[in-house]
Amino acid sequence: MFQTRITEMFGIRYPIICGGMFWVGRAELVAAVANAGGLGFMVGATFGENLDALRAEIRKARDLTDGPIGLNINLFPAVRRQPIEEWVQIAVEEKIPVVETSGRSPEGIVQALHEGGVKIMHKVAGARYARTAERVGCDAVCIVGYECGGHPGLDMVTSLILVPLCVDAVNIPVVAGGGFADGRGLAAALALGADAVLMGTRFMATQECRGHPAWKEYLVKAAESDTAYVMRSIGNALRVAKNALTDKVLEMEARGTTIEELIPVITGHPNAAFEEGQVEDTFASVGQAVGLIHDVPTVKELFERIVEQAIQVRERLDHTISRPAPD
Ligand SMILES: Cc1cc2nc3c(=O)[nH]c(=O)nc-3n(C[C@H](O)[C@H](O)[C@H](O)COP(=O)(O)O)c2cc1C
Repeated sequence: MFQTRITEMFGIRYPIICGGMFWVGRAELVAAVANAGGLGFMVGATFGENLDALRAEIRKARDLTDGPIGLNINLFPAVRRQPIEEWVQIAVEEKIPVVETSGRSPEGIVQALHEGGVKIMHKVAGARYARTAERVGCDAVCIVGYECGGHPGLDMVTSLILVPLCVDAVNIPVVAGGGFADGRGLAAALALGADAVLMGTRFMATQECRGHPAWKEYLVKAAESDTAYVMRSIGNALRVAKNALTDKVLEMEARGTTIEELIPVITGHPNAAFEEGQVEDTFASVGQAVGLIHDVPTVKELFERIVEQAIQVRERLDHTISRPAPD
């Protein structure tokens, strides 16, 4: 029913990908996505230097599915050392079929991953970075727009513009991310020329995703305007749930704060939203697609819904768009 370069490259039934999500995206979610016919990523950084825990999580996912298990290797600058070489080694040894990289060019790890038989999908927030990804040998690129949860980049350009720009810029398969949450989004991504859609925020509100029930309730209730775009002034922009902390950070940024002044303010309560359901005093990554979330289904139910809705869009468009009959 769905055949794209991404379904073929990753051996998946549907062109639906769940992006890596720090802390929340664990074995249960990634396995559920694989069982539903898609591809999901767990995040090396969630386990930091605890490499045994990462291996155990990958094996746990393997016990839950025969489908593909992806690993996200986050290359963003970090306060603590990130064991990137070790994550690469684990990807190879655990026979991970595809790694999702993000944060900066994966050039330094492309060769090792390819030699180990691992494909690379690099995530970028601008068409020029997609060109770099292609040049350094990535197998696919994911482009995310300004509306996305996590790191939307610094250009503040939405997915509707970035996806076709990226499709025009590279020859490798393009995955569209940022703001997608349903079957209309999937059909739109394919219409823009992408080979698959990637969602993060929508997958947080599923039964299998890790997270406090109050956080999931927040996701159901929050509106599309309830996110904040912070930390652009220090070159590490994030889209997170809007709260008193983000108001304070935006105010500091507006008056020209420094990274030294910001660090003590922003490093207070990591994961408080996910772990405790406390959304007031923390940075909790979430995208504008939160406005499209109205329930917490299982991953299987979500896939069925997305697929059915995308098919309906196609059928509607078949009636709406047609070539005029020749005279
Ligand atoms: C809670 C959360 C954590 C995330 N953590 C990471 C991460 O560790 N590495 C990464 O590359 N992207 C991360 N992302 C980004 C997602 O993989 C994905 O690119 C993004 O959510 C897509 O946009 P959407 O939220 O509009 O669907 C995170 C997103 C969320 C919502």
